[in-house]
Amino acid sequence: MSEQRTILITGAGGFLGRLLAETLLKDPQTIDARLVLVDIVAPKAPQGANAIAVKADLTDPSQADGLFQTSYGVPDIVYCLHGIMSRGAEDNFDLGLKVNFDAVRSVLESARRFGTNTSQPLKFIFASSLAVYGGSLPNVVTPDTIATPQGAYGAEKLMCEILINEYTRRGFVDGRILRLPTIVVRPGPPAAATSSFLSGIIREPLKGVPTTCPIGNSLSSPELDLAVWIASPETTIQNFLNAARIPSSSFMLHSRVVCLPGITVTVREELEALEKVGGKEALRLVEFQDDETNRRIVSSWPARFDNGYALSLGFLVDEGGMAPIVERFKKVVAAGLA
Ligand SMILES: NC(=O)c1ccc[n+]([C@@H]2O[C@H](COP(=O)([O-])OP(=O)(O)OC[C@H]3O[C@@H](n4cnc5c(N)ncnc54)[C@H](O)[C@@H]3O)[C@@H](O)[C@H]2O)c1
Repeated sequence: MSEQRTILITGAGGFLGRLLAETLLKDPQTIDARLVLVDIVAPKAPQGANAIAVKADLTDPSQADGLFQTSYGVPDIVYCLHGIMSRGAEDNFDLGLKVNFDAVRSVLESARRFGTNTSQPLKFIFASSLAVYGGSLPNVVTPDTIATPQGAYGAEKLMCEILINEYTRRGFVDGRILRLPTIVVRPGPPAAATSSFLSGIIREPLKGVPTTCPIGNSLSSPELDLAVWIASPETTIQNFLNAARIPSSSFMLHSRVVCLPGITVTVREELEALEKVGGKEALRLVEFQDDETNRRIVSSWPARFDNGYALSLGFLVDEGGMAPIVERFKKVVAAGLA
């Protein structure tokens, strides 16, 4: 059954924000939802949708209140997805701090001010990242693993998490914090993320475009055994929808943080899946140029997580390894959406 709700998405013009808006409008439970889509560049509302597109720079605190005062009223659910990616936040510390922390705090504070007048606190769903982990880590990250970020992006995400947990404890919002794996395959131009090549080595060859893999110097390099923690866009977006449906009482008592389920793949396995789906001609489009800095940063991220808690809450995991993910992306390419 569909419920008429108002759903606010910040970063709605981005990769996941756009996909989320489209998926919400197809899902039977949210097909009638009214969407407030916000981005620094005016986002496009999906055709025929009940949607308001708002152009707002959320680093300006005065702009956040307006998102809760549209003709659709106070949102029932906020998806807080705006952000500057890992490399961007590392290279421009001040901008990263403003967008990834200050602007999240503004939206959260507006949600508190406007949301507490409603019968129940609004759901505040936040896209965090595995980049909150760094330094010395166990082989498998569990819900008990302490997050010690080793970069600006991860530090900013962790600060947001702490604030959202506190706002939840106080009943200001009903927070749900999703630590995302790296999402592969991302369409469009390369993102300002150190992990960008994990999508690039699939996306560009399937589009018939040469690309450079910054890990290893040839197909036989041992560096290609570098393992990473990924999830597909489709599964991630389903998990965004699930995040709004989980009863508050199901979460751990002291934290709303959930590491979304992912799978471990090596760079080599990605290339094998590329060959399987795209053939030898696709694989030939991948050149190698080992970038020691890039390899060091990606190697510092955890590649294995215990999915148990997230699965017990009802979140989904990609089945079948890398090949089905690449198969689905091939259809995105064929549809001209890559
Ligand atoms: N894609 C991934 O692999 C991944 C992994 C972990 C976490 N995340 C997180 O998920 C969220 C969405 O990721 P994405 O891949 O869609 O990113 P994206 O870069 O495609 O989208 C982010 C959007 O935020 C907007 N934005 C930036 N500054 C803004 C500002 N000042 N005011 C308003 N909007 C602003 C951008 O214009 C962009 O459209 C981000 O918070 C990201 O940190 C993504």
